[in-house]
Amino acid sequence: MSTTESAYSRKNPFPAPLAVNRKLTAEGSNKDTRHFEISLAGSGLAYEVGDSLGVFPANNPGLVDLVLKELGFTGEEQVATADGAPASMREALTRSYILTEPSKQLLQAVSGKDSSGAFLANLLLPEEKASLENFLWGRDVLDVLQEFSAARFTPEEFVKVLRKLQPRLYSIASSQKAAGESVHLTVAVVRYKVEHSSRLREGVCSTYLAERTPSSGVPVFVHTAKHFRVPENPDVPVIMVGPGTGVAPFRAFIQERKATGAKGPSWLFFGDQKSATDFLYREEFETAAAEGSLTRLTTAFSRDQAEKIYVQHRMLEHGADLFDWLEKGAFFYVCGDAKNMAKDVDTALHTVVERHGGKTAEQAKEYVDALKKDKRYRKDVY
Ligand SMILES: Cc1cc2nc3c(=O)[nH]c(=O)nc-3n(C[C@H](O)[C@H](O)[C@H](O)COP(=O)(O)OP(=O)(O)OC[C@H]3O[C@@H](n4cnc5c(N)ncnc54)[C@H](O)[C@@H]3O)c2cc1C
Ligand SMILES: NC(=O)c1ccc[n+]([C@@H]2O[C@H](COP(=O)([O-])OP(=O)(O)OC[C@H]3O[C@@H](n4cnc5c(N)ncnc54)[C@H](OP(=O)(O)O)[C@@H]3O)[C@@H](O)[C@H]2O)c1
Repeated sequence: MSTTESAYSRKNPFPAPLAVNRKLTAEGSNKDTRHFEISLAGSGLAYEVGDSLGVFPANNPGLVDLVLKELGFTGEEQVATADGAPASMREALTRSYILTEPSKQLLQAVSGKDSSGAFLANLLLPEEKASLENFLWGRDVLDVLQEFSAARFTPEEFVKVLRKLQPRLYSIASSQKAAGESVHLTVAVVRYKVEHSSRLREGVCSTYLAERTPSSGVPVFVHTAKHFRVPENPDVPVIMVGPGTGVAPFRAFIQERKATGAKGPSWLFFGDQKSATDFLYREEFETAAAEGSLTRLTTAFSRDQAEKIYVQHRMLEHGADLFDWLEKGAFFYVCGDAKNMAKDVDTALHTVVERHGGKTAEQAKEYVDALKKDKRYRKDVY
């Protein structure tokens, strides 16, 4: 069944039971990366490998309590949600509004209500963009309310300066041919400390999935990603570069190609910090490699030795084979961090083509551009 045949969508998310919540990282890891299995049974929702799952989170009730206390509200005040529906202040702050990054409207309002507000007003000037970003880094709505505590709001005034809480997307880590009515996710739980406060900070949705899903189900929808499908021709080789949680869609690709008996060779580059604690789905990938449903598995553990080794270093080491695969028509996929990793992998790809294809930098660029044009170079980066 296609997603369009379901009654559920982003506008009407399906309340899906969370069936499995398992840590993939071991004791001693710097990270808490989890495997989730969410049931779509009865929803009519279907997905293809490469798609993402949209999740509507709720804020941590502990944080909501602190905001209510700071503002002197009981939580019972009646306000409008971001969609205009009536709700109690507690409900609206929990489900409807962003409590992490403060909006400009909040800063503007606070600047007019607190005697030291001129500082905030100055940050909002167009020429102070960098200072504003610097101020906002690691600061949430509660920080602003506490730092400018003379600012008082009526309930309606306060919710008007908040922005609407948005769903988060997660690459689907399963093939429906293997997982049936279940959808699997691979999620890095975001928790961090900030210098200016002892209060531990957390990502809304990743901690919601890890710690706060209601028994009534997690509101989800399927986000289709037609650009990130496996090749239609099962004989085509695939190269998959997915460090960290970027490996999620490739677990789905491997399941899919096994289920469909795809004959084309497949090569996974996986990287994370330490092999002992962060080798996500190690057993599954090693079994797939032993069985042949994954032809090659190449790993890059960045913190197993003094110098950093990343997936792009492995691509360069195996450059001759990688170029050979490309020449045989391989599709090249990248998933994960957009800020640094995807750019470095792109540079490494150009270097491989230059070195092993005997090309100039300009010719290598043309070669990679042609891969993109032919839709053989596909990215899902965030
Ligand atoms: C197509 C797509 C696919 C994705 N797939 C996956 C996936 O498979 N797995 C996965 O885990 N994620 C994935 N993501 C990312 C995911 O959507 C969320 O962005 C992620 O889980 C964080 O959301 P959150 O609500 O937990 O954190 P948020 O509440 O959104 O907080 C994250 C924000 O916290 C701030 N922050 C984080 N660390 C620090 C720090 N040290 N200091 C100061 N501020 C900090 C940053 O501003 C950051 O943007 C994907 C994103 C997209 C767009
Ligand atoms: N755009 C974003 O803001 C973004 C994207 C992805 C992940 N994250 C956040 O990062 C945390 C963990 O994410 P994750 O587990 O998916 O993994 P990750 O942080 O992307 O790390 C996976 C592996 O990639 C390595 N790495 C770091 N820089 C790299 C580069 N330039 N090129 C290639 N590899 C590189 C890391 O090494 P080292 O750690 O040893 O350097 C690690 O071995 C989460 O909190 C997540 O939210 C943020």
